[in-house]
Amino acid sequence: MSESTQLAGKHVLLGLSGGIACYKSAELVRLLIKAGATVQVMMSEAAEAFITPVTMQALSNQPVLMSQWDAREPNNMAHINATRRADVMLVAPASADFIAKLVQGRADDLLSLTALARPAERCPLLVAPAMNREMWAHPATQRNIAQLRADGAVVLGPGNGDQACGEIGDGRMLEAAELRDELIAFFQPKLLAGKQLLITAGPTFEPIDPVRGLTNRSSGKMGFAIARAAAEAGAEVTLVAGPVHLATPRGVRRVDVQTALQMYDAVLPRAAAHDVFIATAAVADWRPAQINEHKIKKDGSSASASAAPSFELTENPDILAAVAALADRPFCVGFAAESRDLLKHAREKLLRKGVPLIVGNLGPATFGRDDNALLLVDAQGQRELLHNDKLSLARELIREIATRLHDKP
Ligand code: CTP
Repeated sequence: MSESTQLAGKHVLLGLSGGIACYKSAELVRLLIKAGATVQVMMSEAAEAFITPVTMQALSNQPVLMSQWDAREPNNMAHINATRRADVMLVAPASADFIAKLVQGRADDLLSLTALARPAERCPLLVAPAMNREMWAHPATQRNIAQLRADGAVVLGPGNGDQACGEIGDGRMLEAAELRDELIAFFQPKLLAGKQLLITAGPTFEPIDPVRGLTNRSSGKMGFAIARAAAEAGAEVTLVAGPVHLATPRGVRRVDVQTALQMYDAVLPRAAAHDVFIATAAVADWRPAQINEHKIKKDGSSASASAAPSFELTENPDILAAVAALADRPFCVGFAAESRDLLKHAREKLLRKGVPLIVGNLGPATFGRDDNALLLVDAQGQRELLHNDKLSLARELIREIATRLHDKP
């Protein structure tokens, strides 16, 4: 599934209440449409003070709904029609005042009236608060947010950082791309709700001296995609990442490490508290037996090296095998990155590592790319996940893991 189809077929009712964050909503409309959604914009009177309906109409390609007395609707019931057509109502920005109105069930303008008249079970309400940090921290707002959640709304954010007023703190509306990703995640089935997942990803880096080291070509993309898919499926995810320059998926707790030993130390104490461990990392099998304190010089001046140094290597611990050997081990999933004989090597690793599931892929064909093909191997047999982008494959893998957790006695 490409970026342009993540929200295909979804109809989003996007409500804007008054706030400077309205400027982000223009970008949000573009991103939602780019992801395949259709967007109907509805604006409160206060929102019009921050951004014009002309802008929002041009971006959404639909006239903006603004008044409950809008005569364009044949039955004159915009507040009913809008949510009957929508898969979700997202209010972004949601001002402190608008949130208070939602909590009180007031209906004195089209936006609040529509939220109240919404069939809650088929058109869920998502709100992205946007306000000054003092307004956000105020007990009245916090009380309202708690009540809003209790009433079934999903609260997205808010973010933290610089505010338009010049202050710094909680209350910023999430960025447009973050809101789009939240919406994509919202529509994923919550197959791993309440589950704890631990995932390793990326290469490791084994230092030779302060400037050089041994590593490999793993980009970490598959592991990060799995972490995102698991979080989308409702799991609590901890991602132990080797040195990669990838953004942390939303809602995922990240622990950065460099070496295999550091990865081992990050994983082992945590493993037993998790339901699932997925080892996607391309852990370096060996590390230099000694790390030179200073850079090894070509002229042989370093005490420990001649002009062409040779290294003694020592084996790194096998993190996956160590987790699989724990008495209270989680459900373990290993990866096998091979350059040939995928099935044979994957079967061998299934036995050697003592895990219930190995996911094979051809390393050189996939390192650094956005797509992949996987071969799932377990005691029962094997299943191919055909060539696809890594996020779609990750979601399929999460489905497979969820089924196995469910079937576990
Ligand atoms: N793995 C690990 N710790 C290691 C080496 C590997 O946790 N020190 C995990 C990887 O994350 C992967 C699986 O073991 O899930 C298989 O890794 P791979 O490198 O393919 O297998 P190796 O056991 O190293 O075998 P070989 O290199 O001989 O193929």
